[in-house]
Amino acid sequence: MTELITQLQEIVGTKNIITDPADMAPYCDDWRGNYTGITPAVLLPTSTEMVADLLAFADKHNVTIVPQGGNTGLVGGGVPDKSGTMIILSLRRMNNIRSLSVDNRSMVVEAGCILQDIHTAAEENGLYFPLNLAAKGSCSIGGNLSTNAGGINVLRYGTTRDLCLGLEVVLLGGKVMNLLTPLRKDNTGYDLKQLFIGAEGTLGVITAASLKLSPLPKARATALAEIASPQDGVRLLSALKSATGDLVEAFEIMPHDIFAVVEKQFPQLPCPLQPIRPYAILLEIASSDETLAKADETGLIPLQQKLEDFLAKQLEDGLILDAVMAQNETQRKAMWDIREHAPDSTKAESHPVNTDVSVALSEIGTFYDLAIANVRKICPDVRICAYGHIGDGNIHFNVIEKLGGDADWATKRPQMFAAIYEALYAVNGSISAEHGIGQLKAEQLKGVKDPVALEMMHVIKQSFDPKNLLNPGRILS
Ligand code: FAD
Ligand code: LAC
Ligand code: ZN
Repeated sequence: MTELITQLQEIVGTKNIITDPADMAPYCDDWRGNYTGITPAVLLPTSTEMVADLLAFADKHNVTIVPQGGNTGLVGGGVPDKSGTMIILSLRRMNNIRSLSVDNRSMVVEAGCILQDIHTAAEENGLYFPLNLAAKGSCSIGGNLSTNAGGINVLRYGTTRDLCLGLEVVLLGGKVMNLLTPLRKDNTGYDLKQLFIGAEGTLGVITAASLKLSPLPKARATALAEIASPQDGVRLLSALKSATGDLVEAFEIMPHDIFAVVEKQFPQLPCPLQPIRPYAILLEIASSDETLAKADETGLIPLQQKLEDFLAKQLEDGLILDAVMAQNETQRKAMWDIREHAPDSTKAESHPVNTDVSVALSEIGTFYDLAIANVRKICPDVRICAYGHIGDGNIHFNVIEKLGGDADWATKRPQMFAAIYEALYAVNGSISAEHGIGQLKAEQLKGVKDPVALEMMHVIKQSFDPKNLLNPGRILS
């Protein structure tokens, strides 16, 4: 192992390798605290050529590699296992923005670029990169691409896959595949970049990406609306889409329990609508049309007025029970802060039962009813923090123990997972909407994926990584 480390050090240089256990610890633990791995070294290459040399070396010497970006992944995909043989290849230091074209509405970034920095660079040029998630301050675009991250704006702009024009990927053996096109249309055979998006580092290492940019929204209107049931949320979305055309930017559901947990853990973030009975939707419409943001002579802001009229009508029709609109950016941020603190607050409150499921919008109500009934059979007083991107049918159906704790929680957790998945399978949903499979769901995948599709996934893996050196045990166990 010492010889191996010396050779790796020669490739990346002494400044770009960490071997001290205390310094490596943050790279070895996953965000949820479910996995603590062991690695002999963390490598921090600074160029594509360095990554290519590393993957040539790994191939030659049968070294297993875990690619890592911001290490905010939620399925244990970016941390090593306990074997002590997996080397972490962190892309953190490859964080340059290579180019940005306003005319082409695109930018080329290195894989280690932090999502928020990409937002800033786009905005400085009057443009918008719409991928948005609570981990934006620490997740990297390479990780976003490798998990095909979703987040809060998918219903308008799609997942990371839809925002990617091209990729630069280093393959095992050290070949660099340059698919870094800024073209919108390019039907020159198989679209190979799609294989690496969502591959969770099992097929190659993404070193750079060409991203699609959108017009920067100039007007926004945001509201928190109480609804009686999740299926009413689906109806509300449909009504909002009809009323505003394609302006719906975000549409998130949060139940009473998640507001209570956020407020308990982060008392500085009180909910502007009290009490929530029993669900609320955080919704936002946005437009790049500046005139919709300008107050008229009576002081009315057109986009705000549009949303206000919509909410008044829904209140009258009984689809919403109450609503509050953000009157300014501070109030808007306060609403989003509550939503964005949902993962942190459940983590601080409990060892939650976390899921990331998706179901057809038509099945949302059935799924909630079944899942709630199933978990309540095991434990009637659990807190149901089933929040998420309802506009995409993507629910983080999370459950935590009753207030005051539950001595048997560790025993009940696996039963809770089974209860939620039983409800999910009844409505033909997916076990992973946006977080991926990683280590966490690799076994479960075998039981739910179409067997022929699974066989083809193994064929693809075999052709890019015949020795199973790239992120082994992730996705395909
Ligand atoms: P990492 O965690 O470092 O890695 C993730 C996976 O990608 C691993 O399998 C890793 O091996 C692989 N990988 C990383 N970089 C590369 C590369 N360059 N080449 C090849 N493989 C690579 N996710 C959502 O989809 N939507 C959300 O709304 C959302 N909200 C979140 C909120 C919080 C508070 C947190 C902590 C996480 C959230 N996530 C969400 C999950 C996570 O942020 C995303 O999965 C994100 O895309 C991971 O990026 P990362 O750079 O941290 O990747
Ligand atoms: C969220 C993460 C957990 O939406 O995906 O908060
Ligand atoms: Zn999410």
